Amino acid sequence: MAPLINFKITNILVLLTSLILTYQELISVLEGRMTTETTLLEEENLERQLSLLNKPPLKTIHAIWGDTYDCIEFHKQPAFDHPLLKDHKIEMWKEIISTKSDETLTGIDGCPEGTVPIRRTTREDLIRAKSLTSSSNYGGGQCRAGVSYDAEKIYGAKGAYNVWNPTVKQDQFSSAELSLQSGSEENAAIVKLGWTVDPQLYGGNKTRGFIYWTVDGGQKTGCYNTLCRGFVQVHDRYTPDAAFSNVSIVNGTQAEFFAEIILDKVRGRWWMIIETNITIGYWPNELFPAFSQGAKHVYWGGRVQSDKDGVGPPMGSGQEIDAHSMFINGYVRFLEYIDKNYEVRQPESTTNINDCTKVYAEEYFLDAKILKYGGHGGAILGLRAIKS
Ligand SMILES: *[C@@H]1O[C@H](CO)[C@@H](O)[C@H](O)[C@H]1NC(C)=O
Ligand SMILES: *[C@@H]1O[C@H](CO)[C@@H](O)[C@H](O)[C@H]1NC(C)=O
Ligand SMILES: *[C@@H]1O[C@H](CO)[C@@H](O)[C@H](O)[C@H]1NC(C)=O
Ligand SMILES: *[C@@H]1O[C@H](CO)[C@@H](O)[C@H](O)[C@H]1NC(C)=O
Repeated sequence: MAPLINFKITNILVLLTSLILTYQELISVLEGRMTTETTLLEEENLERQLSLLNKPPLKTIHAIWGDTYDCIEFHKQPAFDHPLLKDHKIEMWKEIISTKSDETLTGIDGCPEGTVPIRRTTREDLIRAKSLTSSSNYGGGQCRAGVSYDAEKIYGAKGAYNVWNPTVKQDQFSSAELSLQSGSEENAAIVKLGWTVDPQLYGGNKTRGFIYWTVDGGQKTGCYNTLCRGFVQVHDRYTPDAAFSNVSIVNGTQAEFFAEIILDKVRGRWWMIIETNITIGYWPNELFPAFSQGAKHVYWGGRVQSDKDGVGPPMGSGQEIDAHSMFINGYVRFLEYIDKNYEVRQPESTTNINDCTKVYAEEYFLDAKILKYGGHGGAILGLRAIKS
């Protein structure tokens, strides 16, 4: 009896310690746009964050879209400095499959074996990400237009997204995402991936990939790409923040990318996969205890951030929904989720999600298995602040 009780107490202590660590960790490192704190960035703090995030590289690569990537030894990447990942079992991912031709997301060539490319975080990145915080408190809000699916246990989801380059202002963004959520709205664990045009995040208006995670619905935590520790990069060419080489043209060629998030329940990893077989990396389950039993909610669709005057940018292609042509709107095809038996299914029933019906629209065409979403944008009124 006694050993059992001891065991339990130890477990509780470990749990408590890790909860406290999560909290401290997540408020001390950079939190992307989502933090509501408005504390001034101190020089010292900035330097500390940069030195935590930027490891000494074995090699440095300048990507064609202008960013610098450092080749970091797999085991030394910043993710593993996260206090919750101290005991995380790590092994280099062996089955790396390169697709050199016909890709939409651009890869980075030349990292030596055993290393992974990590985008170098600059002072400007940190400052921009912090300034976002205050602008998003400033009347601007977010709008979604898409569909969701809910179930008790969801182990993953997929979809094929066409990619656009909507015109946005400095304090707006326009994106499309696949997101998985667990827990209540105010306290949700969320992981997502998609494409975005976000000058605040990237310092430019190219269409880029992005990933995001939070453990509390974006209240105190929330982090894009590798701007904080947590996401484990495994692919040696593809990174979550890379630029897209091609975007879609209205009434013309569509640039499509296939997004997938799937839970490996045995090892507790939420994998991020693109183009069916390019495994970019994973979020360890240690980061979000609420997720250990799977997600309960999937969202496919667009998401935009309005400017401080409450004006939303174009979403998707910026066009009104066209019921007939596939080449006009932002779309998601082949919406699927992974059920509790690891079977891939089409959602039996979806819920339309639209926070700003005046300016954006969505329509799920069941027979054609295609969700269309988007709109020109414009003044958004009476919007509740959505943060994640
Ligand atoms: C991975 O993608 C490449 C390029 O599209 C393809 O040739 C290959 O068959 C794919 N492999 C699998 C296992 O799907
Ligand atoms: C990108 O678009 C250009 C011009 O439309 C085309 O020539 C090229 O093949 C496309 N690249 C890919 C990877 O689809
Ligand atoms: C992106 O920015 C450049 C330079 O500021 C500008 O010329 C271009 O039109 C912009 N593109 C979009 C899609 O906003
Ligand atoms: C797309 O092409 C069709 C046929 O050429 C044309 O009628 C329509 O106006 C075009 N739509 C857009 C949004 O450019």
